[in-house]
Amino acid sequence: MFSSEGVSVETLRWRADTLEMIDQRALPERVVYISYNSAQGVAEGIRSMVVRGAPAIGVAAAFGVALEALRCQHLPKAVFDQTLEHGIELLAASRPTAVNLFWALRRMRIVWQSGQQESNPALALRLLAEAQAIYDEDIRINRSMGQFGAELLADGARVLTHCNAGALATAGHGTALGVIRSAVAAGKRISVIADETRPFLQGARLTAWEMVQEGIPVTLITDNMSGHLMQQGQIDAIIVGADRVAANGDVANKIGTYMVAVLAQRHHIPFYVACPLSTIDLTIATGEQIPIEERAAAEVLGFRECRWAPNGVSVRNPSFDVTPAALVTALVTEKGVVRNPDRDALASLFL
Ligand code: MRU
Repeated sequence: MFSSEGVSVETLRWRADTLEMIDQRALPERVVYISYNSAQGVAEGIRSMVVRGAPAIGVAAAFGVALEALRCQHLPKAVFDQTLEHGIELLAASRPTAVNLFWALRRMRIVWQSGQQESNPALALRLLAEAQAIYDEDIRINRSMGQFGAELLADGARVLTHCNAGALATAGHGTALGVIRSAVAAGKRISVIADETRPFLQGARLTAWEMVQEGIPVTLITDNMSGHLMQQGQIDAIIVGADRVAANGDVANKIGTYMVAVLAQRHHIPFYVACPLSTIDLTIATGEQIPIEERAAAEVLGFRECRWAPNGVSVRNPSFDVTPAALVTALVTEKGVVRNPDRDALASLFL
């Protein structure tokens, strides 16, 4: 049902009336899919990081709404509406920072509200079609960001990225890694330096895996090594994704991004952010208002079964940080490259 042709990794797929999501917690050791048939299930999948990455979370949530409608389509209208509302609330509470989640739920709500005269089964099918449209659009948008962004990378560039803004963080192709994929497809020899990205290791586990799968040269470093490599002149450009961009261009992305951006400025290395318009939140004036998720202490105390910190230590685990717009060389969007992003430039993207 999806037009996933040419997509290297199937992060989400529709199979036999269920949503299947690759379990990103198990990568790279195991490639396994988990099936979902309700909004509650998908909300739990988002919360527990089976699926992660801003655009992928949005797409998953849209399918969550459609699944809930399909599941309840034979109930009386009032119960159907009540159950759908509850499902949307569960999805909205799954993670706070990536605005794509709320953007996708708003789109689904508009379809729901416009179909009040329809039968439940007809409405459920329209909700499914909307979720599929969001999925298809995401891949198209990533490819067009890739084309715009590829122009920014020189042949032979050594490109640092943080976290995973790849196919696994989207419906396919990726945002930051999409730019790298498109540059490689255009014949440029690009090599990637992947920050490990403590504590959840999205860089080591997911970005490195995606690049290795595709034969794009990738070197893994721990997060505290990037400053040294910049100082040594071994990084030519930096490109990351985003979870939410405020109206003034401040960028919330995975914890550690801010550190990289400060170092990039110090070493005169361009710092690019690739993000679809659905990641830009014009209702929020500056990055200060972006809610920053604080995740479980266990992620910092150890990894999987291995625990390395003592009992009794207190822990902080903010999952995102905010990079001020002044440190961003350019935003790469599906409408083109915005250099020195600011309030006016961002507003004009929506005209
Ligand atoms: O906690 P995560 O893994 O959902 O965080 C993901 C990121 O921070 C990504 O860089 C961001 O969502 C960009 S995705 C194209």
